[in-house]
Order: sequence, then C-alpha cells, then structure tokens
Amino acid sequence: MTSPGASSPTRNPAWKALAAHGREIEQRHLRELFAEDAGRGERLGLEAAGLYLDYSKNLVTDETLRLLLELAEGSGLRKRIAAMFRGEKINTTEGRAALHVALRAPRHASIVVDGEDVVPAVHAVLDRMAAFSERLRGGEWKGYTGRRIRNVVNIGIGGSDLGPMMATEALRHYSDRNLRFGFVSNVDGTDFAETVRDMDPEETLFVVCSKTFTTLETLTNARTARAWVLAALGDERAVAKHFAAVSTNAGEVTKFGIDSANMFEFWDWVGGRYSLDSAVGLSLMTAIGPQRFREMLAGFHAMDEHFRTAPFERNLPVLLGLLGIWYGDFLGAQTHAVLPYDRYLWRLSAYLQQLDMESNGKRVDLDGNAVDFQTGPILWGGPGTNGQHAYYQLIHQGTQRIPCDFIGFALSSNPLGEHHDLLMANFFAQTEALAFGKTEEEVVAEGVPPHQAPHRSFPGNHPTNTILAERLTPETLGALIALYEHKVFVQGSIWHINSFDQWGVELGKALAARIVPELSSEAAPEPIHDSSTNALIRRYRRLRSQS
Ligand code: F6P
Repeated sequence: MTSPGASSPTRNPAWKALAAHGREIEQRHLRELFAEDAGRGERLGLEAAGLYLDYSKNLVTDETLRLLLELAEGSGLRKRIAAMFRGEKINTTEGRAALHVALRAPRHASIVVDGEDVVPAVHAVLDRMAAFSERLRGGEWKGYTGRRIRNVVNIGIGGSDLGPMMATEALRHYSDRNLRFGFVSNVDGTDFAETVRDMDPEETLFVVCSKTFTTLETLTNARTARAWVLAALGDERAVAKHFAAVSTNAGEVTKFGIDSANMFEFWDWVGGRYSLDSAVGLSLMTAIGPQRFREMLAGFHAMDEHFRTAPFERNLPVLLGLLGIWYGDFLGAQTHAVLPYDRYLWRLSAYLQQLDMESNGKRVDLDGNAVDFQTGPILWGGPGTNGQHAYYQLIHQGTQRIPCDFIGFALSSNPLGEHHDLLMANFFAQTEALAFGKTEEEVVAEGVPPHQAPHRSFPGNHPTNTILAERLTPETLGALIALYEHKVFVQGSIWHINSFDQWGVELGKALAARIVPELSSEAAPEPIHDSSTNALIRRYRRLRSQS
C-alpha cells in the first residue's frame, strides 16, 4: 500500500475523528435520534432555489455534521469553489477550466477565461439557438421538399445524449406536441432503425451533437442518417435542410458536410456531462421553446448562486456532498440511489450516473497518487412507485446500506383524481419505513406468528434525503441538476480528485479500434489478443460466416 498523498483528505484530522465517530454512530438508531430531539425533522431542513431538503433522516448527530463541516473547511473547498467560478483551469489533466456555471450566467454578468469575457458568446449562441428553434416550432423551417419538419432526432452519446434526452422527458409536459423527438445514441444499428422506423425523411431534422465530433458511435449514426436522408431525397443539397450540428469542433463539422450556418458552438471549458445548458440543449429548446429553456437556466443559476454564497452549514450541495462522503467513507455504503416520484424524471438516474460516476470514478488524486479511501459511489435508481414493487425489497431488508435521495413535488403536472395523493403518500411512507422500520415485537403484537416475525420485521435505520419542491418546472429542473453537479464537485474537491476528466473510457475505445479490422473484412488478420479474446473473436467470425 502506498502512503497517502500530501493532500489526501485522510490526513485531515477531521477524517480520523469521523472514522472514530462512525464506529459510535453504528451503534445508534434513527428511532433514538428522533426520540431525543422532537424538533429534528424541522431543524434539519433547508430550502434554496425552490428546493426543500429534509436531511433529518440521515444517520447524523450535531457532532457528525460538525466534523463533516470541519472536513470541508480543511479541504480547501472554499478555494476550489472560487477557482471554478473564476474560470481557473481546475481540470488540470486536460488543462481546461470547468466553467459550466458560465452557461447560465445572466447576460449582464462577466466571466473572463484566457483574457476573454465568455458571457457575450454564451448569449450569442443562445440567441441563435432561439431563432433556429422558433423556426422549427413555427413550421417556418422546411425540409428539402418543402414539407414542414415534424421529427427532431438528436444523435449523440454520453453527455451529448443523456442531458437533452433526460430533460426532454422531464419537461415533456411543456413540449410542443406537433413535434416528435427522438434520441439515437447506441452504435447498435437497432437504435437508429427503431427511432426512424415511423418517420418520414422529408419531415425529419437531425441534430448531430458531439463535443469532439470524433466519437465513433455518433459519427457512425450521423453517416447512417445522412445516407437515409439521401436515399429518400436523392440530392446532397438536402443535407443543409435536414442536419444541424452542435460541437466545439467546427473543422470536423464542415468536413462532415453540415452547413456552418446550422452549427451551434460550445467551448472546451464545458465538460460533456455538464453541457445540457449549452447548445447541446438544442433539441430540448426546440421541444419546450426558448422562454422555458431560459427559465431552466435561471433555475441552474439560482442554485449556482446559492452554492457560491451560502455558508457551508446552510449549503445544499455541500451538505449532500458531505453526507455522501459520510456513508461511503465511514459507514460502508458503496451505492447511492436516486428515486424521483415523478414519471417525467424517469431518465434522471441514467443522467446522474454519467454525471457522478464519470466525474468521481477515480483512483488517483490530482497529484497522481493512488487514493487510500473510497471515491464516487455506484449511482442507480428509477422512478417511484415502480421501484417499490421491484428493488426496494433489498433496500428495506437486504444486507447493504444504501443511502437514497427521494425527490417529489407537491403539485402534479397531470392532476387526475386521487393519483397524486396516492403517489405522495407512498413517497412519504417509504422514507418513514426506511428510517424507523418495525421491530419483531411490534410485528408479533399485530398478530404475526412468531416464526414469521424475523421475515416480516424491518430493521429500519436506512438513511434518506427528501427533496421536495412545489412543481416540476423548467426552473426546478435546472436547480435540481445544478444541485447534483455541485454535490459531485464538492465530493471531488474534498477527495482531491479531478472530477472533470474521464481517461478511464479511453482504453476500451483504443482496443475496439484495433479489433474492428479483425471482424469486418474477409481477409481479416488473425486476432492477436489474450487467449479468451482471441477465441471469442474467432467464434464470432465463425458464426457470422455461417449465416
Ligand atoms: O467517452 C466518454 C465521452 O467522452 C463522454 O465524456 C462524453 O460525454 C461522450 O463521450 C461523448 O463525447 P462527444 O460529445 O465528444 O461525442
């Protein structure tokens, strides 16, 4: 085992104190913590940017919070926050700023990167996106044969897919129903084939979205889309009417043949997984309109301001980040579940998986030292109430500790009879059941035969956060996403890792590029890998040649 780096959080005295304190907390139960403090449920609550966070059902005492805040203070987090907002190149392995907060800065703001104020450029692109999306929404933009565009298909992957796809689903209530939206990401041809199956090329516009414009999946799908359009319309000039691009790489976009008038730029200081509110949100803006998109940006900005200015003990992203560190590094949790009680948020956990796991799935710190503690958790989840009838069993009675975020809204976007109260009754019931459980004695007192009592009792003591907002609006969604972005940053800063690079995705890409010629040509070279990979490739080739 190598010794921890000079900036390892484990050298912080608060870390050691938390380790000892964790052993004490393991002996406590949320039932006791609530019994000792009648006001706990109100006291450990906090509101910002339209989101109310109840963090009282966490396995924490005032001492825990004090130590966690001490850890944050001693980690240089304040300086890191200031550096991020100032546009410093905090993504050191790629030599870039991580300045997604500039994407939602108001028009009058000024943020200087490399001697240039980036805010005017951000708003210039937003204005171009607004004009473009209004033409699509109003039917003014026509396809090559003069027909109105009815389908908008985003082609992208990772941050160039998950953000717009998640948010288009989340804000579907606000979207233009005359337009249909599709998202093609997977290089599996099925994704493209099924998405366009019922679409007419004359009425379809593709938004090719890629920060680098070199991503294998996206370029393969984009070429297939171009062939699909040209097969129907028979003229290269149709491309200008049926393709737009979103990228930082103007050269590659032009090479691909997309008109620069239809290109929307963003900048290398926007990480892919932080890019939803850049031009990457073009399909979303087309769905909900520029005004709603700006409301979403205002929600992001409100949370940014809260994060930048609120004291740590009243700071939502800081508290959520610290609670995550508490469970992962001191109480043995390896996963974290996000459970929104709103069907529109059904892709939120997929989006947050990239945000959290690509950002904080790191094993070395900023100085290149191997870390000697656990970094980012496995993030997973899905919409309630569906999960209750599937995987919640393991959260309630399994052997793992799984901290959960429950997200719900007071008002439904689709009020239908009793539905919303039933949904929310379940929302409140789950965190109550998880926290307090039910003892064997209580179960037996209700008439359950004693031999069944172990199976039908609930240990409780499962920690949850509850995030409650008035309604799912563009603004609330913006605030919610910014909350998670900054939570991830808080954790990365305390762990002293780079939350903005993703070198871990590269090896697989390079090996795939080597394998492609071994699969595709008649005279394919013999595979030269390990014996397992060689045997699998040979079997694949045999199966292909037999069909
Ligand atoms: O391979 C990972 C990744 O680089 C992600 O970080 C990114 O969001 C995705 O691929 C897509 O990249 P691009 O937008 O450049 O096509």
